[in-house]
Amino acid sequence: MPIKENTSLLHYNTFGIDVNSKYYVEYDSVEELRAVLQFEIVKSNQILHIGGGSNLLFLNNFEGVILHSTIRFIKKISENVDSVFLEVGAGIVWDDFVAYCVEKDWVGVENLSLIPGETGAAAVQNIGAYGVEGQDVITEVKTVELATNSIRVFSNSECRYGYRESIFKNEFKGKYIITSVIFKLSKNQVYKLNYQHLEDEILKTGEVNLHNIRQTIIAIRQHKLPDPKVIGNAGSFFMNPVISKKYFDELQEKYPDIPHYFVSATDEKVPAGWLIDQCGWKGKQIGNAGVHDKQALVLVNKGGATGAEIVFLAEQIQKSVKEKFGIELQPEVNYI
Ligand code: EPU
Repeated sequence: MPIKENTSLLHYNTFGIDVNSKYYVEYDSVEELRAVLQFEIVKSNQILHIGGGSNLLFLNNFEGVILHSTIRFIKKISENVDSVFLEVGAGIVWDDFVAYCVEKDWVGVENLSLIPGETGAAAVQNIGAYGVEGQDVITEVKTVELATNSIRVFSNSECRYGYRESIFKNEFKGKYIITSVIFKLSKNQVYKLNYQHLEDEILKTGEVNLHNIRQTIIAIRQHKLPDPKVIGNAGSFFMNPVISKKYFDELQEKYPDIPHYFVSATDEKVPAGWLIDQCGWKGKQIGNAGVHDKQALVLVNKGGATGAEIVFLAEQIQKSVKEKFGIELQPEVNYI
């Protein structure tokens, strides 16, 4: 676990922004992490813990220490007739974990196929797609507290999960490092297919089973979302805004086709991609920053973009959505 100096972050952020970090350290166990946290350089500098770098936008060189977990194990910790409990190291690539569960016929994470990033970050971000969120399958999150170097285990409810939200993004931001996550998967072959036409698409592949669900979701994502290995991006750039039902009804009168997801009796969620698309941004480009031509929610690095160029484009988009729809879009991506 040597400390590297002046490391290029080009391959540690899926946007492909070419910046450096003053220090960079990887560790592969909880014990190593606790030792790293004792290093003088680590104690006296700003720390940023990264996962797969799929939700970050670097605006400048990072003048502190980047930590990255290579804790990579999947361990069955218990099992009963209905369920299996797995502990998964924070550094396991999320989609490798999904593939493993599908292979074993364990149900729960298949709708989250092909989401980029690593397992620790998935538990921070409460990743979600096709009607499933991380919080539906996470039972516990194991961490090390930075201030005390002690281990703390968070229960699901202590993580305060919400839509792309958790305690690790809010009051405990930067205070705990996730080392592993406990998941509860089901052995019963009951799937969540309430997302639009998902079931029809799956049926086209033959029967509805775990393997076909995964393959269909991979195909849908590959069709709509650019591959970060080919074109830099961080998935959805903005969160889907939640607005009051009252305001939604007003918008729906003006825009009868406006898509929406039910949140509660008083709130509706509106797809940011649709709002941005309606403002005419799909496929547009400013400098080296662009809006993906198949999904307006995704901003892309057209080649050599700086973080500032991406932010400039994002701000122009926020301005037009605010003017046309009176809605403020919040970035899902973290600006660093
Ligand atoms: N739409 C448009 N134009 C666009 C994009 C979308 O009209 O350019 C419309 C679509 O036709 C559809 C609606 O907006 O009616 C929603 O689009 P989509 O199904 O693509 O999903 P989304 O709401 O844009 C969310 C998540 C994705 C997740 C999908 C599938 C957020 C911020 N994004 O996107 O998550 O994969 O649902 O469940 O909640 C991510 O977080 O990085 C991510 C990709």
